[in-house]
Amino acid sequence: MKALVYGGPGLKALEDRPKPEILDAGDAIVKIVKTTICGTDLHILKGDVVTCAPGRILGHEGVGIIDSVGAGVTLFKKGNRVLISCISSCGKCDYCRRGMYSHCTTGGWILGNQIDGTQAEFVRTPHADTSLYPIPPGADEYALVMLSDILPTGFECGVLNGKVAPGSTVAIVGAGPIGLAALLTAQLYSPSQIIMIDQDDNRLAVASRFGATHALNNTSGDAAQKVKALTSGLGVDTAIEAVGVPATFQICQDIIAPGGVIANIGVHGKKVELHLETLWSQNIAITTRLVDTVSTPMLLKSVQSKKIDPAKLITHHFKLDQILDAYETFANAADTKALKVIIEAG
Ligand SMILES: NC(=O)c1ccc[n+]([C@@H]2O[C@H](COP(=O)([O-])OP(=O)(O)OC[C@H]3O[C@@H](n4cnc5c(N)ncnc54)[C@H](O)[C@@H]3O)[C@@H](O)[C@H]2O)c1
Ligand SMILES: [Zn+2]
Ligand SMILES: [Zn+2]
Repeated sequence: MKALVYGGPGLKALEDRPKPEILDAGDAIVKIVKTTICGTDLHILKGDVVTCAPGRILGHEGVGIIDSVGAGVTLFKKGNRVLISCISSCGKCDYCRRGMYSHCTTGGWILGNQIDGTQAEFVRTPHADTSLYPIPPGADEYALVMLSDILPTGFECGVLNGKVAPGSTVAIVGAGPIGLAALLTAQLYSPSQIIMIDQDDNRLAVASRFGATHALNNTSGDAAQKVKALTSGLGVDTAIEAVGVPATFQICQDIIAPGGVIANIGVHGKKVELHLETLWSQNIAITTRLVDTVSTPMLLKSVQSKKIDPAKLITHHFKLDQILDAYETFANAADTKALKVIIEAG
């Protein structure tokens, strides 16, 4: 089968690989129908993710059709259409019992990281019963690809951890797919203001179309003053960091109002400065989270009932044998205006 293989920092290739086989009773082999590329795949290609070894098939998002299941799988059978979660969870370990699937002792974020992923014709998914979701009849499978990772990530790490509430003020730093997913799901809670901050005017225009009340270009470095001006000098109740660099975490510290929450989503490769000398008296909280995907069933219903339409994040379509072009397009978003690229594998 064809698969996109990580070859070490800066290296990737479309290779021929053997079709995966069932290794454990809980496994399923899924024929990939659609997959996509995540900002985190670009982090892997930069060498930022040390757990991902050269030779790994990348990808942790997608929808597909069950090809075969292990003897222990009870919920799925050959021919079922499924959504693949980026997080594998056994459902039984202490972390899974607490709903913290991201830290499952035999799962977590392993797909396209510690085991082969979804940017291929087939993938082996461990703990299939608790890590795959049946696709409801008639569902928009393009929209569902956004549910493997980015929608639960924006919602859980940004909106839920950030305690977005009716009438509250929110700033989202970073208008990439993750920041935009936080923007779409924050609106479920009717905050009074959602201020989007980025350096890319195209992405800011998209954010305005998706419901941001204000869109600020931070290239001139004055986003914090502008946020203060928009919030009667107070700052925001929730500051969501959706980039993963020191400068954007700094903006969050500069704009958080007393009693607020800084909700970090970004994958950070570099040390950031924490200004406790100014924040200690401000009654704030700082949260971090690797997405758990516990909200996937709720988000599936919200998408089905059209309360959220994540398909509008899709900008480009490719076939699996054009996946190197898909990576080029996704990695050069400022020029290509790419948000999410869909790769059709079957
Ligand atoms: N915590 C988790 O579980 C989890 C899951 C998935 C992704 N992530 C991380 O979330 C982050 C965002 O993902 P994405 O796919 O949207 O990434 P992306 O690279 O597509 O988007 C990042 C955005 O930040 C903007 N930006 C960069 N520097 C900036 C600055 N100084 N000021 C303002 N804006 C700036 C860019 O223009 C871009 O629009 C990444 O770090 C990704 O690895 C975390
Ligand atoms: Zn991802
Ligand atoms: Zn577990």
